[in-house]
Amino acid sequence: MRLLLFHHIVLSGYIFSEATKKFPDNFKFGVATSSYQIEGAWDKDGKSPSIWDHLTHTRPWHIEDGRNGDIACDSYYKYKEDVRMLKELGVDFYRFSIAWTRILPSGFINTINWDGVKYYNNLIDELLKNNIEPMVTLYHWDLPQTLQELGGWTNPIMEEYFAEYARLCFKLFGDKVKLWTTINEPRLVCLMGYGINVMAPAYNNTGIGDYLCGHTLLKAHARAYHIYDDEFRKDQKGKIFIVLEFQWLIPKTNSTADINVTETARHFMFGWFANPIYLGNYPKVMIDLVAERSAKQGFPKSRLPKFTEKEIDYIKGTTDFLGLNTYTSFLTNSEEFYDYKMVGFENDIGFQISHDPAWEATAQPQFKIVPWGTRQMLKWIKETYDSPEIFFTENGMADNGTSLDDQLRIKFYREQLKAVLDSMHKDDVKVSGYTAWSLMDNFEWVSGYNLKFGLYHVDFTSPNRTRTPKSSVAYMRKLFKTHCPIEECE
Ligand code: BGC
Repeated sequence: MRLLLFHHIVLSGYIFSEATKKFPDNFKFGVATSSYQIEGAWDKDGKSPSIWDHLTHTRPWHIEDGRNGDIACDSYYKYKEDVRMLKELGVDFYRFSIAWTRILPSGFINTINWDGVKYYNNLIDELLKNNIEPMVTLYHWDLPQTLQELGGWTNPIMEEYFAEYARLCFKLFGDKVKLWTTINEPRLVCLMGYGINVMAPAYNNTGIGDYLCGHTLLKAHARAYHIYDDEFRKDQKGKIFIVLEFQWLIPKTNSTADINVTETARHFMFGWFANPIYLGNYPKVMIDLVAERSAKQGFPKSRLPKFTEKEIDYIKGTTDFLGLNTYTSFLTNSEEFYDYKMVGFENDIGFQISHDPAWEATAQPQFKIVPWGTRQMLKWIKETYDSPEIFFTENGMADNGTSLDDQLRIKFYREQLKAVLDSMHKDDVKVSGYTAWSLMDNFEWVSGYNLKFGLYHVDFTSPNRTRTPKSSVAYMRKLFKTHCPIEECE
């Protein structure tokens, strides 16, 4: 089950049969990074520690290579170089995140760190000067450690603190930033951070802590959305949305048990956050199953917290697009040896996941390449959530960085984009943008620097953190210019 935690990829051999080979003219292309993964300067100019600084410093053994983001790509100092790379790629936008502790070192809005604000203003100005639109994520996993000490996302008060931080960001940067994303991948924040001791803050509280975290994150997201909507949208005229990740789930066999559990798992893995936002409240199957399991386990009430009617209404409809991150697909089958006494998110679903050995592998065994899975997933999302407008906020693959000639990455992007085009043209899925992860190699969370997702190679042994384009840069540059993922367009 550990597999769930990582991203996974698969693909190859996706048959592209669509006559329309190009993305529409108004389709937007960009690339993404996040603060902790690239900035470095972890304690410079007034920044305070986030939960990732804390985890990597106090428990370095938790990270595969024992390393951390103290320097990372050094983008705090090298942001102009980053923008030059973005310019070379010809992106329409750049998705990056703000480190909460760089602008609010105490975590609260009592003290603003103007040096931190200056850094983001400089970056945003440099982007705009180069005609690159900033897409800013408010929360990409680096919670202030001060707030973690109050329980982090399991404490409902975090909704307030996040709301104040978000309002400040809209005030500070909203005249120039028109694309905001609130929370990056809440499911992973909760499952991996509070459920199964993988990501910071690395707690082991599955089936309880993860649900509490999700509840707060949903309310915090909705709060930020409403603040933008009520106080800023009229003047700033931007868009604001959540970023959810989904690795498509495919029944392992045609048995009714596998088909049913797969559908249930989709609602837990994606519906947990998509349902409250698109349809109102948690998915019924999730409410029912967690309540049933909780009762059998002797809990006085469901481990899944309950929204009031007012909260259901408040959260519903709070996203302008569906920001979607995806990396792979999994096979799903029902758990043979289900033990009702075991308290845990995965046990609440009662499923197991695996891969088809025929799927094409990447550097990471769990990361297979499955472009047709992406297409099936988009269709399911369309049918389940009444055709939302989808904006891909991340998609990419890792290798081990041994060659700058990253042909597998080019193939990955080509096949994925063909599948997205088919979804748009044949399945009528609304997709308006696509973001590649990542601009450059960076700190890949618990994998440290072992996994490389970048279009640009970064030399982490050099004090200059020298950036070098991989072969995929030329492919992406052409794609961004022509809007065509295949050779034969010209
Ligand atoms: C995260 C990124 C991460 C990427 C690759 C996404 O879940 O948002 O921060 O680097 O996956 O694992």
